[in-house]
Amino acid sequence: MTASKTSEDHDYDFVVVSNRLPVDRVTAPDGTPGWTRSPGGLVTALEPVMREKDGAWVGWAGQPDVALDPFDNEGIRIVPVPLTVEEIANYYEGFSNDTLWPLYHDVIAAPSYHREWWESYVAVNQRFADATAAISAQGATVWVQDYQLQLVPKMLREQRPDLTIGFFNHIPFPPYGIYSQLPWRAQIIEGLLGADVIGFQRVADASNFSRAVRRLTTNVTRNPVIEVVTEGQATRRVIAKAFPISIDASSYEELARQPHIQARAQEIREGLGNPKTIMLGVDRLDYTKGIGHRLKAFGELLTEGRVSVEDVTLVQVASPSRERVKAYMDLRDEIELTVGRINGDFATMSHTAISYHHHGYPRDEMVALYLAADVMLVTALRDGMNLVAKEYCAARFDNDGVLIISEFAGASDELKRALRINPHDIDGLKESILQAIQMPKQERATRMRSLRKRVLEYDVSRWSSTFLTTLAQSRAAQDDYADSPLGELEWTIERPRAAR
Ligand code: G6P
Repeated sequence: MTASKTSEDHDYDFVVVSNRLPVDRVTAPDGTPGWTRSPGGLVTALEPVMREKDGAWVGWAGQPDVALDPFDNEGIRIVPVPLTVEEIANYYEGFSNDTLWPLYHDVIAAPSYHREWWESYVAVNQRFADATAAISAQGATVWVQDYQLQLVPKMLREQRPDLTIGFFNHIPFPPYGIYSQLPWRAQIIEGLLGADVIGFQRVADASNFSRAVRRLTTNVTRNPVIEVVTEGQATRRVIAKAFPISIDASSYEELARQPHIQARAQEIREGLGNPKTIMLGVDRLDYTKGIGHRLKAFGELLTEGRVSVEDVTLVQVASPSRERVKAYMDLRDEIELTVGRINGDFATMSHTAISYHHHGYPRDEMVALYLAADVMLVTALRDGMNLVAKEYCAARFDNDGVLIISEFAGASDELKRALRINPHDIDGLKESILQAIQMPKQERATRMRSLRKRVLEYDVSRWSSTFLTTLAQSRAAQDDYADSPLGELEWTIERPRAAR
C-alpha cells in the first residue's frame, strides 16, 4: 500500500459498514453545517482497531439528500453514503423500521409489507455494498452492522470474493413462525449467508437463524457451522453464533467516580424532593421497551397505597426516536397520556410521581442519574441486548442499586443476579418493584458486585476482539477447507459465552 491515508484512491484494510456513521451531520441554528461525534460504544470499541488497521467507516450521515466527500476524522476514514428523501421514507422509516423492526421484535407492533419499500431496501443495500467494495483493499476485513444492511454481505461477496466479511445483528432474530411472514424471507437469508461469520446477541437468536436457513435453503447446518453450497458447487463454511455486545464499562465507572458527577447525582435527588427511593427508566421511546407496562405497575402500586409519591419517584427518560413512523407517534401519545394521568392523580405540590423527560442527555448526566437511582427498571418486551442495564451496573462502583430486568432483554442472559421479571405479568412486576425498594443493603451489595464483575470483564472491546478473532480464524479455516473433503476439518471455535 503506497497511497497516504488522505489520498482519494486509498484502499482500507478494515471497513465497518453501518446505517449510521459514527459522526452525525448537524446544522447549526445559523445554517452552518458541522459534525458531532456520536458517543456510541461501537465507535469506542472499534476505534483502536480502526487506527491500528487502517480503517474506514461507511454509513449515512443522518440528513437527506446530502452528498458529502469522504474525510478523515480522528484517524478514521469516514465514507458517507447519501440517501434521498424518498429512500429515507422507504428504506429507513419503511422497510427497516416499519417492517423488519417490528417483525424481529416479536410483532409487538404489526409489521407493514410493501413492495416499494423492499425495492428501496435492495437499492440502498446495493449502494452501501458498492461504496464498500470501492474502498476495500485486497483481502480486507469488512464488518457489516445490523438489520438495515442484511443484503450487503452477499452483494459484497459477489463483487469482491477476496474480502473477509463479518455481520453482526444488534437486534433479535425471530423464531421461524414469525420470520416466515416476510415475503422476502429467502432473499434476506441468502444476503446474510454472504458473510463468513454472522453474529447474534443471544444463543436463541443464532438458533432461530439456523432454523430459518434449514427451512428456506438446502444448506446443511451443524451448529455453529452452516455449509453453504454455492453455484459453482464449491462449499463455504459460515459461522452463526452468539457474541453478546457490551459497553465501554470502565469509562462509565471512571465518570461515576468523578466528584462533580457525584455532586450532580446529589443535586438530582434534592431536586426531586429527596424521596427515599428513586426509580429510573432510560429508553429510546420505542414500543419494544415496555414503558407502558412499567407505568401501569407503578400506577397500580400508587393506587393501592403500597407506595406513596413522598417515598418513591420514577424518573423516565424517553429519548425521541423515529418520530415520523406512525407506531412511534401513537406510542408517544399513549405514554404521555398515561404519565399525565398518573401525575394528575398522585402528584402533590412538593412531590411528583413521574419525572418524565422526552429528550436524550449527555453521558455525564446519564451517569449522574444512574448514581442517583436506587432502582433501575428495564422492562423491555423484546430487546436485542439493552445496554442501559449494563451502563447502570458499570456506573455503580459503590456496589449499590438494584437492577430489575426483563427476561426478554438479551442482557438478562448475563446479568444473572438482577431481579428478573416478565413485563407482561404486572403483578409479578409490582412484587419485584416492592422487593427492590425494600431490599436490605447487604443483599443489594452482593448482587451488584456480581453484576459488575460480569459487565467489567466482558466489555465491548472483548466483544469486538472475540468477533474479529472468530472472523480471522474462519477465513483461515475456509482457505484450508476448500481443499479438504467436507467435514474433515475440526472446528475449534469456543462455545458462545452466553450459553454457559
Ligand atoms: C437500535 C438499532 C441501531 C439503531 C438504533 C437507533 O439500537 O440496533 O441500528 O441505530 O437503534 O435507531 P435509529 O433508527 O435512530 O438509527
